[in-house]
Amino acid sequence: MTEKRAHFATRLGAIATTVGSAVGLGNIWRFPYEAGVNGGGAFLLIDLFFVFVIGIPVVCAEFIIGRNTGLNIRGAFKKLAPGKSWALIGYMGILASILILSFYSVVAGWTLEYLRLSIVGFGAENSVDSFHSRFDTFATSDISPVICTLLFLFINYVIVIRGVQRGIEKMSNIMMPILFILLVVFCINSLMLPGASQGLSFLFNPDFSKVTPSVMIGAMGQAFFSLSLGLGCLITYSSYFKKDTPLLKTAGIMASIDTMVAILAGIIIFPAVFTFGMEPAAGPRLVFEILPSIFTQLPGSTIWSILFFFLLFLASLSSTISMSEISIAYLVDEFDMSRRKATTIIISIAMVLGVLCALSFGSLSVVTVFGLTFFNLFDYISSNILLPIGGMFISIFVGYVLDRRIVKKELSPKSSRRELTGMRLVILCLRYIAPICIAAVFLYSLGIF
Ligand code: TRP
Repeated sequence: MTEKRAHFATRLGAIATTVGSAVGLGNIWRFPYEAGVNGGGAFLLIDLFFVFVIGIPVVCAEFIIGRNTGLNIRGAFKKLAPGKSWALIGYMGILASILILSFYSVVAGWTLEYLRLSIVGFGAENSVDSFHSRFDTFATSDISPVICTLLFLFINYVIVIRGVQRGIEKMSNIMMPILFILLVVFCINSLMLPGASQGLSFLFNPDFSKVTPSVMIGAMGQAFFSLSLGLGCLITYSSYFKKDTPLLKTAGIMASIDTMVAILAGIIIFPAVFTFGMEPAAGPRLVFEILPSIFTQLPGSTIWSILFFFLLFLASLSSTISMSEISIAYLVDEFDMSRRKATTIIISIAMVLGVLCALSFGSLSVVTVFGLTFFNLFDYISSNILLPIGGMFISIFVGYVLDRRIVKKELSPKSSRRELTGMRLVILCLRYIAPICIAAVFLYSLGIF
């Protein structure tokens, strides 16, 4: 860790890369599915609160730690708080990143299958019902989803082991604007559907009678998941930031773009849900049933469909690369392991857990822990519990433990009035608002509060 740290050449590079990590299945697959299950508008509103009031300051906290140390998650805590139990945040991040990698790869595997189907054709029948039964047949079988998951993890393995992820990240940075344009086109199409107003009202009209502890915890988890927040991913990324990259501004832009993509996905999905008479609370399958139905309505549907699933695959890959890197860097640094060995170990673990998740829709659907299948359990534990707890400790660390001069140097190097005001707000949030809100949601969901 003594080598000179490479840096992103431009500020735009820093923004593009953090956005690349944030934008992925979390926005396009997970947000609409969670919003659908949790009643729509109220979920969105709570999610927005967590993104802008708590997410942005905690993103800043990860940025401060990363840029100041220029190290990975474990090294960073070791340097800033030697010998203290803060390293536990690192271990939690490693556990969460492996769990997320496992279930994320299942969904990324689905995008591979849908990419294949887009190329060979979905078949003559393209009614909504047929997409429903097609997903059912595919996901409940015990072979194809497993193969797709393993294939996706293998692609991830080959890229990570060769250390060519910078190439993929560059490629995904060029592709993401194209994905964005595609989403805007699909959005316009959805707004012209007969169910548009019903769909928009579902998404944007908050019905607070629907707010339950599980909606609160779900929205908090979604905010953390979508921002890639709470397990040290952004510590690693910001260790490549240059000294003059404005952290608060970068965090704000990243959160805004990330949220915009999720909302676009919602505007695409929900009008279609109501037009086709489907159930918004369909769960993880929602997007995979609705999108192909939307594509068939567009002229040149095959091209749209191929392009979309290919871009979604790339977006997923750039996210899983960043997740794998956390635990691989840990093994390499802590145990002096070769990169090849570390990658093999981590991806093998993810493959075993990934198979369990892939089978959660098929023969393992009857196996549940706390009433959740492996897939849902891994998602729930990591997104709704580990990430917010990680975020809470990171805010407490930067808010109370870290030398204030470091915070000032990172957040307000020029000491302009704007910078100082921004810094005070961030500190206020890190010391009081974020820890209290996160703790309150946990207590509320445990029925204590
Ligand atoms: N944010 C990404 C998405 O929305 C997923 C992701 C990448 C992630 N890295 C992460 C989630 C680290 C949590 C932590 O798809």
